[in-house]
Amino acid sequence: MTDETPIAHPGTPPSDCALCPRLVAYRAEQQARHATWWNAPVPPLGDAAAWMAIVGLAPGLKGANRTGKPFHGDEAGKLLFGTLAELGLASETPEAWDAPGLFITNAVACAPPGNLPDTGEKHACRPYLAQQLAALPNLKVVVALGETAHQAAIKAIGGKLPKYRFGHGVAHKLPSGITLVDSYHCSRLNINTGLLTPEMFKAALVAAVALAAG
Ligand code: URA
Repeated sequence: MTDETPIAHPGTPPSDCALCPRLVAYRAEQQARHATWWNAPVPPLGDAAAWMAIVGLAPGLKGANRTGKPFHGDEAGKLLFGTLAELGLASETPEAWDAPGLFITNAVACAPPGNLPDTGEKHACRPYLAQQLAALPNLKVVVALGETAHQAAIKAIGGKLPKYRFGHGVAHKLPSGITLVDSYHCSRLNINTGLLTPEMFKAALVAAVALAAG
């Protein structure tokens, strides 16, 4: 994954995607308020050779929705990329992060009010995620950050939800052969409340790397 080279990966939503009226209205509001921000569906970062995909919830308003890159510009991204760097999977370039072999995306591509996409929005955006993941022939492991990402990834990859319960650090072998590893979302809220510690987050990523190596 190279931040410097924007890609038109299959499943990238159009910048004027109009599937979700509430998110379109919110986008228009932000465009009027912050003319220099991205304010559009945030495309995935990654390359077609990725072996690990990381699925977040949705762009943070002042993070990915501002920068146009998943997990860029907020505390969740600092923990995510900082942990990937500790594991030797990412490095920081002067302008951005570089993580070769990884693919980073979200269950929902547009910033939702209050950081909470509704059920219809999750459903509407899922075909984009499914196309994105299907276009990664070397994909071995998907890390789901939070329960919404867990559900979106299972439905996108193909698997029956009730068979796979979300749990931090839990690995699920899906029928396609891809392994899903769950983690609590690396949000500032989860860190501040103690639901997730940086050590717990690192352990989930280490498990995902080991399972991919296999
Ligand atoms: N930034 C993202 O792109 N996704 C998240 O889930 C959180 C922050």
